[in-house]
Amino acid sequence: MKEVASYYLKEGMVLARNVTTPSGQIIFKKGKTLSKQAILQLTFYNIQSVFIEGEEEDQLDSPSAVKSYSQKIKTSQKFQSFQIDHTIVLSQMRVSFEGYVNNGIPLDTKLLVSKVEELFDSCKTSLELFNMLHNMHSSDDSVYGHSLNVSLICRQIGKWSKLDAGAVELLTLAGLLHDIGKLKIPAEILNKPGKYTDEEYALVKQHTQYSYDLLEPLNLDPHVKMAALSHHERCDGSGYPSGLKNDEIDVVARVVTIADVYDAMTTARSYRAPLCPFEVIEKFEREGLQRYDAKFILTFLNHIANTYQNHRILLSDGRSANIVMLNSKQLSKPIVQLDDGSCLDLYTASGGLHIQAVL
Ligand SMILES: [Fe+2]
Repeated sequence: MKEVASYYLKEGMVLARNVTTPSGQIIFKKGKTLSKQAILQLTFYNIQSVFIEGEEEDQLDSPSAVKSYSQKIKTSQKFQSFQIDHTIVLSQMRVSFEGYVNNGIPLDTKLLVSKVEELFDSCKTSLELFNMLHNMHSSDDSVYGHSLNVSLICRQIGKWSKLDAGAVELLTLAGLLHDIGKLKIPAEILNKPGKYTDEEYALVKQHTQYSYDLLEPLNLDPHVKMAALSHHERCDGSGYPSGLKNDEIDVVARVVTIADVYDAMTTARSYRAPLCPFEVIEKFEREGLQRYDAKFILTFLNHIANTYQNHRILLSDGRSANIVMLNSKQLSKPIVQLDDGSCLDLYTASGGLHIQAVL
């Protein structure tokens, strides 16, 4: 029997012990042969490692014996304290949002923004912030968890874009409140695993109007209200509710959109593992940057890629390497140095070779 980080599990491996959630619920029983779907489910439930049948690991430097980057972060003291602070802010948001939506108790937006600022400032660098955010996601991601993350990412985009303090605060608040209308949608529809029916999707799409209607009577900057209404619009006109294009879309909404999409892509879903930052950049590039505000999306993706400059990564063919130089033509395909010392340009490499994980 050996303990294997979930990241390194392969189809066909057999569980040597039951796999349980932190609350003790059994997900898989001992003896189960892992399928691709089962491995995805482990990621979804945030299970870091499992016990697999087979001989003891004797090569300490083999991948499965090495803690994944994610595991190293999750066991760090910084992560433990961030997780506590994050949870406290989430419960403050929950009390505030529900108090307003259900009982009309005024929202103390100044207090909420100050809590997000404290959490943001507890991270010394943007790398630390994104390390925390990528690892906070779990199966119980709610409107609150997503909204808090979007708020933190909006704040970071504002800072990377060198906006003044007032504008950064505005972005922080817009990110925090953008999805408040989802509280009007039944949780069983919102959190339904798998695909929505057409009727369900039509209802979920209503959340932008619900958010706007909830914020409309409040004494808030109009950009915050418009960000709630328009954060699913896309610059090429492919979004909803109105199919607006480019400058027709509120500028704050255009930033919230980027943070919203990034957070969704880096969150585990029941049908896929969370994407690593380079896979997210690749997805943005593949789907077309013209869907987003040109200035903000380039600033954002450049900074994200730079955040992981010199990091060790895992390639899609199983080899590990270090990032040595970014390619401004395609940020998801940098030049990397393999363990034998040779360099490989992912931009020109054949066979769809790409970065699969940050190690
Ligand atoms: Fe939304």
